[in-house]
Amino acid sequence: MTADTAAKKVFIKTFGCQMNVYDSERMTEALAGDGYCETTDLEDADLVVLNTCHIREKAVEKVYSDLGRIRDIRDRRRRDGKDTLVTVAGCVAQAEGAEISRRSPVVDLVVGPQSYHRLPELLKQSRDTGARIVETTFPEEEKFEHLTQRRQVRSATAFLTIQEGCDKFCTFCVVPYTRGMEYSRSVTDVEKEARNLVESGVRELTLLGQNVNAYHGVTETGAETTIAGLIRRLARIDGLERVRYMTSHPRNMSGDLIAAHAEEPKLMPYLHLPVQSGSNRILAAMNRKHTAEEYLRIIEKVRAARPDIALSTDMIVGFPGETDRDFEETLDLVKAVGFAQSYSFKYSPRPGTPAANMEDQVPDGVASDRLARLQYLLTNQQERFNAQTVGQTIPVLFERPGRSDGILVGRSPYLQLVQAEADTALLGKILPVAIRGHGPGSLSGVIAA
Ligand code: 5AD
Ligand code: SF4
Repeated sequence: MTADTAAKKVFIKTFGCQMNVYDSERMTEALAGDGYCETTDLEDADLVVLNTCHIREKAVEKVYSDLGRIRDIRDRRRRDGKDTLVTVAGCVAQAEGAEISRRSPVVDLVVGPQSYHRLPELLKQSRDTGARIVETTFPEEEKFEHLTQRRQVRSATAFLTIQEGCDKFCTFCVVPYTRGMEYSRSVTDVEKEARNLVESGVRELTLLGQNVNAYHGVTETGAETTIAGLIRRLARIDGLERVRYMTSHPRNMSGDLIAAHAEEPKLMPYLHLPVQSGSNRILAAMNRKHTAEEYLRIIEKVRAARPDIALSTDMIVGFPGETDRDFEETLDLVKAVGFAQSYSFKYSPRPGTPAANMEDQVPDGVASDRLARLQYLLTNQQERFNAQTVGQTIPVLFERPGRSDGILVGRSPYLQLVQAEADTALLGKILPVAIRGHGPGSLSGVIAA
């Protein structure tokens, strides 16, 4: 085989959230149509794609340090007569645009999250002209229309993006700027993709969106439906056993969605509902549009609908102006809820967001201490939640082989990782597992007879 006819190889690295994981899968599919197969070996890649995250400064720095390493690899490959095209996609691409190739000239193509369907064409343009290309326009509908080809899934569980963007403008967050305004895909479009996935063996769908519970897609009749309406429709698909959704905003936690948790057995008892802080003063400065008390009332209603629900949150410590007292209120809220799962971060000032220019930025050492205290509490809560499951028999969807032979890894309804001895023939099946033990991040058990 000559170099021209050999399959081209693409290496894709994904940073950040699940929406990027979904986007990377869709890019891989778009590129497969263009003759690319995936490689996990950077040195072997004709095309490198970094699908980036802009949410915190650390994530951005990581991209630039990777680009340095990629430049060395590209130079080595060049000496062997091989070309390497380098693409930066995702939210750093959207936010920094042409600045990326100025800072890292190794980058050939910068492509924002709304233009992935044009990737093959943009790569061709880059190859043909040798010019650096920056594509960061915002045609949301187009992207999903063009990405309707059959998905190639390899797992019993899949992400499905139903909503993108955000109009909430929390003062710390870049999402409204990088992903744009809220946009919901149509019910028909989502349902078609869901059916395709289920026909390919998917048993569990996680509906994704930055503000997923603000979903308001149109049906065939042109009427808008809520996420609860969408979930109820998807739940009617035979073969689909589980539905999840993330990430939600407290303001959009509507009565019909809470009711769906009580009424729809396929909707899993798990809710990721970020609160960010327990202090009303800080919540107001964050422009969160809810108070700590309102959040607690929502939790009460959700628990009344589904008493066993696992609750999850995102927290930020060290937001500008946060005092010890504000932080104590955050700890109080966490104690009042009892989270099964959580993600907590030190505030990271993001260029262009209102909070970056606020006075009273909290010293890094103070923020680090608070983060350590908060994480200690949250980790304990997670352990307590996992410990409760020991002794119960719960349905587990087996997703993938474990690290050691003969072990499969799956998920409980509460999204806990569960390891059990099982034959690979059981991959993609939901089986009752008697939980025997728990670690900080996972459970172990045996398949019940
Ligand atoms: N600094 C720290 N954490 C942030 N998040 C978003 N923006 C920032 C920031 N500037 C966190 C929030 C959000 C999660 C995805 O990331 O907690 O819910
Ligand atoms: Fe960012 Fe707030 Fe929108 Fe979430 S709700 S994406 S934190 S602006």
